[in-house]
Amino acid sequence: MWNKAIEDAVDKIRTNINRFGTRFPHVSEDGAYLMNDNDDWTNGFWSGMLWLCYEYTGDEEFRLAASRTVEDFRRRFEKKTVLDHHDIGFLYSLSSKAQWIVDKDESGRQLTLQAADHLLKRWRPEGGYIQAWGPEGDEKEGGRIIIDCLMNLPLLFWAGQQTGDPEYYQIAAMQADKSRRYLVRGDDSSYHTFFFDPKTGEPIGGATHQGYTNGSTWTRGQAWGVYGFALAYRYTQNPVYLETSKRMARYFLERLPEDYVAYWDFNAPVTDGTSRDSSASAIVAAGLQELIGHMDKDDQERTYFEQGVMKSMTSLVQNYSTISENTEGLLKHGSYHVRGGLSPDDYMIWGDYFYLEALIRLENGGRGYWYER
Ligand code: GLY
Repeated sequence: MWNKAIEDAVDKIRTNINRFGTRFPHVSEDGAYLMNDNDDWTNGFWSGMLWLCYEYTGDEEFRLAASRTVEDFRRRFEKKTVLDHHDIGFLYSLSSKAQWIVDKDESGRQLTLQAADHLLKRWRPEGGYIQAWGPEGDEKEGGRIIIDCLMNLPLLFWAGQQTGDPEYYQIAAMQADKSRRYLVRGDDSSYHTFFFDPKTGEPIGGATHQGYTNGSTWTRGQAWGVYGFALAYRYTQNPVYLETSKRMARYFLERLPEDYVAYWDFNAPVTDGTSRDSSASAIVAAGLQELIGHMDKDDQERTYFEQGVMKSMTSLVQNYSTISENTEGLLKHGSYHVRGGLSPDDYMIWGDYFYLEALIRLENGGRGYWYER
C-alpha cells in the first residue's frame, strides 16, 4: 500500500512541477493550490517534496526542480523577504540543507549556515527565549514563544554540528527547555504559544493563536511537539526530550477518533461539521517513526506507537489521500486556521510533505532533511 501511495504522489508532484512553475503552493481553495512567490512560512515544503522525490526515484527532473527552488531561497535570503519570524528552520532545512544532504552542495551548506545565524538573531537573552513573530521589541509579539518552533531548532543543532560553535546548541537546548517547561502542561497537553515579559523573562501565561481557546490543545501544535522533541533528543541525547516526545505522543494517540485522524483541536466540540486536521496526523506519523527509532528494543510502548503509525497511515492513505484522483494535492481535509476563519478543509502543502515523508520512512527507511544521515 505504501508503495502505491508513493508512486501516486510522485506522479502528481511530477505534474505539479510544470503546473506550479516558479511559484510555491500554500493551501488550497476549491481543489486548487493558492500559489505565492516564496514569501510565506510554507515554501520549504514544496522544495522538500521535490528532494524526497529525487531521492526516491533518482530522476534528474526532480533534482533540477528542487535546485531551482534553492536558488529562489537564496534570493529570498539576500532580499530578506518575510524572514522576520522563527520559521527559518522550516524554510531552509527542507531546501538548502536538503540540497547539502542530498548533493553535498557547498553553496547549499553555506546558505543554510547563514539562515541558522539569522534564526539565532531571534534569541532574546533578557527573556531567555526565541521570539516567535515580529521584530525585536514589538509591543504585542516581543514576549511570545510558540510550540511550532521546536521544528526549527534542528537548523540550529545542525549548524552547531557543522561549525563546532557551541552557541547554536546552547540556544536550541535552552529554547527546547523553555518550551518543555511552559508550553507542555502537566497532563501532557500543550499550549500553542506562551507570553513572557520581554524585559525580565517573567512568565505571563499561555495563549492560543490557531487553537480553539487559550487553554485548549491545538492538534497541530501537539504534533509539532511530538516530532520536535524527538529531534531535540536525536541531537542532544537528553532523555528528558525523549520522554516529552513520548508523553505528547501518548496524549495525541489516546484522543484520536475512530478513524485515527485528528480533529483540528482536542478540545473543540465534535459535531458533524467539525474539521479534521489530516496534516497533524501526517506530522505525528513521521514524528512517531523518528521517536520509535530512539526507543529501546524492549520498551513496552514501542508496539503502541508502532500501531499508532500503522493505523494513522492506513487511514490517511485509504480515507484522506487523493490516490487515483486527478488532483494537485496529496492529502485532503487539512485545517490551517479554523479559529481565524480560514478553514479550507483541503490540501495544505505541509500536510502533503509530512505524508510523503512518513510514507517513504515506512517504505524504505528514508528520512526527511532535519538532520545529517
Ligand atoms: N506553523 C504554522 C502552522 O502550523 O500553521
